Amino acid sequence: MLKNSAKPKKQIYKNYSQEDFDVWKILFEKQIQYLQNKVATEFIDSLKKMKFNSNKIPNFNKINKILKSSTGWKIKTVPNIAEAKEFFSCLSKKQFTTTCWLRSMAEIDYLEEPDMFHDVFAHIPLLINKNYSNFFHELGKIGASVIGDKEKLKKLQRLYWFTIEFGLMRSKNAFKIYGAGIISSKEESENAMAKSSTKKEYNVKQIMNHSFRTDVIQDTYYVINSFEELKNSIDEIRCELYDS
Ligand SMILES: [Fe+2]
Repeated sequence: MLKNSAKPKKQIYKNYSQEDFDVWKILFEKQIQYLQNKVATEFIDSLKKMKFNSNKIPNFNKINKILKSSTGWKIKTVPNIAEAKEFFSCLSKKQFTTTCWLRSMAEIDYLEEPDMFHDVFAHIPLLINKNYSNFFHELGKIGASVIGDKEKLKKLQRLYWFTIEFGLMRSKNAFKIYGAGIISSKEESENAMAKSSTKKEYNVKQIMNHSFRTDVIQDTYYVINSFEELKNSIDEIRCELYDS
């Protein structure tokens, strides 16, 4: 996909070029190799169930069939990253907004906005994990309900950021990656695994008061013990938001 060219609004599989396939293959192989023993086993299990591999750009029709028969999610294709209103409205209906274009070979190591390698490779697999799916859906419903309230929305976006995008999970005294922003970036995954970055226990109230920047590598990550813990925190999230 050339920079500044119009982004497609839906996936037309035959329009993918050889460069697109090459970009997918290079990114997939590089990240899979790097993520070995660093990513949550739930992600690898889900990736296998989705049948993603380096040789084929995933076909959204096939993804939708697997999502539908497991947790009921569906891809909602968008040309660019969705605004908060559309994003949370879609999540509340179990629709995940996803781009269908890939960065060019010239942009392979750096991209200004999320492409389908981020949206599909890093986000989609965990949608078939029951507890994760539950948490994500509830987050969407809460987001849609506070969309007109800037302060509440900001708090919820922070929660989204430090879990879905940049979350870590504890596993046998080691940190494992589950956040999509880490999964799709070598630099971010190296930083998340480094001793120099700060790891904090998952804490709803603390996260809601923790501002973040989207243009730099993160300096702090929040650690959960399981996706069940995330799912079980929904009541607390509601209390914190609606009672504030
Ligand atoms: Fe993302």
